[in-house]
Amino acid sequence: MKFDEIKEIAVLGAGLMGHGIAQVCASAGYDVRLYDIDNAILENALSRIKKNLNKLVEKGKISRDDADKVIGRIHPTTDLKEAVKEADIVIEAIPEDINLKKKVFSEIDEIAKPDAVFATNTSSLSITELASATKREDRFIGMHWFNPPPVMRLIEIIRGERTSDETVELMKKLVKKLGKEYVVVDDVPGFIVNRILVPMINEAIRVVESGIASPEDVDKAMELGANLPMGPLRLADFVGLDTLLRVLETFREELGDYYKPSPLLKKLVRAGKTGVKSGEGFYKYQR
Ligand code: CAA
Ligand code: NAD
Repeated sequence: MKFDEIKEIAVLGAGLMGHGIAQVCASAGYDVRLYDIDNAILENALSRIKKNLNKLVEKGKISRDDADKVIGRIHPTTDLKEAVKEADIVIEAIPEDINLKKKVFSEIDEIAKPDAVFATNTSSLSITELASATKREDRFIGMHWFNPPPVMRLIEIIRGERTSDETVELMKKLVKKLGKEYVVVDDVPGFIVNRILVPMINEAIRVVESGIASPEDVDKAMELGANLPMGPLRLADFVGLDTLLRVLETFREELGDYYKPSPLLKKLVRAGKTGVKSGEGFYKYQR
């Protein structure tokens, strides 16, 4: 696949990350097929994208006409074949579950164009292992976005053991075209940002769990004392406690007990309190 030949991008998973990734890709002029397992999820994703774009129109950052064109480039579907068959790039943003991701990659490997590049937005899983579910390990790469995708400026590019130089170069050009910056990282758990950020969040949860401070005080302290835009517990709710737990479980398995998830985090996830997306985590949210 040559960079200039990229016309269509498939985004698999229309959740927290997938809807934002679709918005960024469509805003850069690409046709986007947005896939999820349920029509209601796709409708919700499209209404969130419309809301985001409306805000940009209200602020005078884009015209109404351009916002309509961006929406017109996003085609939602619950049919996986329809989503990937013409795609030049597939960006996977389904839950952080290695077996689920491998199953979906092996399925689309049979349907997608032979030269299409597969990218995964995994937060922590091995790119090399995910690539091994396909017969295109040279055209398989990590493309790690940050939440919210339309705002955050970085994308980590992760090279799997068999990712080709051509695929890395193609991804660098794509990231620039999407208006983002990149760092290229080896295939290690959590890459750069999550390797540093997620243990910090886990430590903040331990501080709450051990009764040292309330969630409000931890966040206040880190916002005012360390100038974070969002304290670690608000950020945990924003990212999704289920995703964070899975990341920490991978870290513990791959890197050792230092990364053991806090029991409080486990308890909240087991209770379905996954943060903003469920309406409750460390805080409560209006849905
Ligand atoms: N989608 C699109 N735009 C959004 C948005 C969203 N979900 N949320 C906020 N924005 C925009 C706003 O419209 C606003 O735009 P303007 O500057 O043009 O007005 C801008 O972002 C700032 O928003 P707000 O003024 O409403 O609020 P804020 O100043 O508190 O910023 C924030 C919101 C950008 C989310 C900020 O709180 C922040 O940076 N938080 C930390 C985010 C972070 O650390 N993300 C990484 C998480 S880790 C990860 O993603 C990796 C992983 O694998 C888990
Ligand atoms: P999410 O739960 O908000 O969304 C996942 C979506 O995938 C859901 O809409 C779900 O219906 C859909 N899905 C489930 N099974 C599917 C299947 N078989 N095929 C297609 N779609 C399916 O999760 P998210 O936060 O968007 O995370 C998605 C991926 O992005 C994960 O790998 C996560 O680690 C990674 N990530 C998350 C963040 C974050 O801040 N939340 C940041 C960077 C990367």
